[in-house]
Amino acid sequence: MAQRKPIVAGNWKMNGSLELVSEICGEVEKHKNVNLDVIIFPPALLLKDVVSKGILAGTQTISEFDSGAFTGEIHAQLAHELGAKYTLVGHSERRSLFSESNQQVADKFAKAQEFGLVPILCVGETEQQRDAGKTEEIVAQQIKAVIDKLGVAALNNSVIAYEPVWAIGTGKTATPEQAQAVHKFIRDMLSSYDEHVAQTLRILYGGSVNEKNSESLFAQADIDGGLIGGASLQKDAFISICKSAL
Ligand code: G3P
Repeated sequence: MAQRKPIVAGNWKMNGSLELVSEICGEVEKHKNVNLDVIIFPPALLLKDVVSKGILAGTQTISEFDSGAFTGEIHAQLAHELGAKYTLVGHSERRSLFSESNQQVADKFAKAQEFGLVPILCVGETEQQRDAGKTEEIVAQQIKAVIDKLGVAALNNSVIAYEPVWAIGTGKTATPEQAQAVHKFIRDMLSSYDEHVAQTLRILYGGSVNEKNSESLFAQADIDGGLIGGASLQKDAFISICKSAL
């Protein structure tokens, strides 16, 4: 892996419990390594519990709005006050189930940074888009929405996660070569804006990563770690994925 510090992030989605916080965070703490950032994205209700274990944590989404009458939303400032350091924005489940547009994702990205959270911008194509040869076009549009709103420099303090929609929760992982090709496309695209951003931005792969395939994925030149769903709920699998990123 390049000189970029790898990240292994666990997105628990709407899963988990206080018991799981103790179990997973205890193991993460035990295997802490200065050369790896491990971040847990629990359901928002468990954020404070993860933070209290001394583990890097974030929210799975945040509101693009300031405080006010937005029932059920997660306020970036409050998340930051509670100890969150990161937030996911534009996860494919948010885009598809909650109809988040590229513009809205860019607004969330901006709000995260405004309140001191590092956004992890999730991008990726559906199977239909891949089959139609549109992977690069879709991924470029998703990233460009942020650049158009905030300028490329905003990416300095962020992370991108490439998660092909067809690989999420399906057991159908992108091959290391397929993933690397898109990661390289992203880096090349960024380098047309700003070489420093392109070389320093960490780009994670997500989509059916497990303890068997993580090593070959993370060995790719432009893959700086992973965003893990299902396997992040299993202590042994998650720790083994973390080790494979070192
Ligand atoms: O954000 C992580 C994710 O969407 C991938 O989920 O279960 O395929 O690892 P999974």
